[in-house]
Amino acid sequence: MNKILVTGGAGFIGSNFVRYVSRERPDWHISVIDLLTYAGNTQNLDGLDESRFKFIKGNICDENTIEPAVADSDAVVHFAAETHVDNSVHDPRPFVDTNVVGTFQILEAVRKHDKRLHHISTDEVYGDLEPNDPKFNEDTPYRPSSPYSATKAGSDHLVQAWIRSFGVKATISNCSNNYGPYQHVEKMIPRQITNILTGQKLKLYGSGQNIRDWIHAEDHSSGVLTILEKGTLGKTYLIGADGEKTNKQVMQLIVELMGKDESWIEQVNDRPGHDLRYAIDSSKLRNELGWQPRYTDFKEGLAATIDWYRQNDSWWKPQKESTEAKYKELGR
Ligand code: NAD
Ligand code: DAU
Repeated sequence: MNKILVTGGAGFIGSNFVRYVSRERPDWHISVIDLLTYAGNTQNLDGLDESRFKFIKGNICDENTIEPAVADSDAVVHFAAETHVDNSVHDPRPFVDTNVVGTFQILEAVRKHDKRLHHISTDEVYGDLEPNDPKFNEDTPYRPSSPYSATKAGSDHLVQAWIRSFGVKATISNCSNNYGPYQHVEKMIPRQITNILTGQKLKLYGSGQNIRDWIHAEDHSSGVLTILEKGTLGKTYLIGADGEKTNKQVMQLIVELMGKDESWIEQVNDRPGHDLRYAIDSSKLRNELGWQPRYTDFKEGLAATIDWYRQNDSWWKPQKESTEAKYKELGR
C-alpha cells in the first residue's frame, strides 16, 4: 500500500493527516479529493512534494469523480464531511448529502474496485454522558442527538453493513474533539482565540459545564495511520487522549494564556440539544495496536495553537467576519 486517496484532505484534520503521512511515509503517493466548501482551503496543503501529491477538486457524492480516483489508489481514508453541529441544526440537508450519500458513493467505489477503506467518524455518534458515567468504548450503543451526529452514525452503519454484506475491507475510527492549527474559526477554540485577536469577547454556550475530551489533531492523524496499517479489518477503534475539560475551563485557559481576565468570557444562548459530555476510552487502540498520543499537555498544545493563530491571521481573517455574522443570526 503506497498510494492513498484522502477525501476531505483540504479540511482541518484531513490536511493534518496528509502533512503527517507525507512526512512519516516518504515513499507514499497521496491524492486528495475535496469539494472546497467553506471549510476547505488549499493553503492547508501548501508546500507538499508535488511529485508525490495530487489534488482533485470534486464532490464525493459524484460517482463519476469518485470512481476513477478510487480505482487509481490502494486505499481510501475518508475524512470528507459536513462537520459543524450548529450548522446542522440550522440546515441539515448538506449533512445528509455529504455524510450519508457521499459515504455510500465511496463504499460502492471501494466495493467495485476491491480497495481498502478507513472511515473517519466521531464520538458524537454515541450521544452524551452524565458526569459520572463510564467513558465511551467500542461497545457503547449508538444514540446520536444532532443532525450532524445522526448523519455520521448513518455513515458508520453503512460502512458496517458493507463490511458484513459485501466483505468490504474497512476499518472505522471514532475520535473525540480535535484542536490544533488550521481549524476553521467556526469551531470553539479558534473562535475564542480569534475573538480576542479581533477585540471581541469569548462566547460561552449556556452554563459552560459541558465537557469535551480534547486531542491534538496530530495525535488523531497518528491514530488513523496506525489503524490503516495495523488495524484488524472489520473493526472499530476509538481514538482519544484523556483530555476532558469543561468549556468554561478551556475558556479560562485561553484568557489566561492570552493575557486577559474572565470578564472577557460572555455567556450566550445555549445550543439546542447541546450534548453534556463526551469521553473516550482508547485502551483498545493503545493495547492492541500500541498507539500513544504525543500531545499530553493540553495547556502546552493550546499555547502553541494560540501562537499559530497569532502568526497566521492572513489564513483565518477572510473567514472571520462571515462566520460571526452567521452566529449573530443564531443568537450565539
Ligand atoms: P472540516 O469541516 O475542517 O473539513 C471537511 C472537509 O471536507 C473540507 O475540506 C470540505 O471542503 C470537504 N468536503 C465537505 N463536503 C464535501 C464533499 N461533498 N465532497 C468532497 N469534499 C467535501 O472537518 P474536520 O474537522 O477536519 O473533520 C474531518 C473528519 O473528521 C469528519 O469526518 C469529521 O466528522 C471527523 N471528526 C472531526 C472531529 C473534530 O473535532 N473536528 C472529531 C472527530 C471526528
Ligand atoms: O466530538 C467530536 C466532534 O467535535 C466532531 O465530530 C465535530 O465535527 C466537531 O465540530 C466537534 O463538535 P463539538 O460540537 O463538540 O465542537 P464545537 O467546537 O462546535 O464546540 C465545542 C463545545 O464548545 C461545545 O460544547 C459547544 C461549545 N461552544 C462552541 C462554540 C462554537 C461554546 O461554548 N462556544 C462557541 O462559540
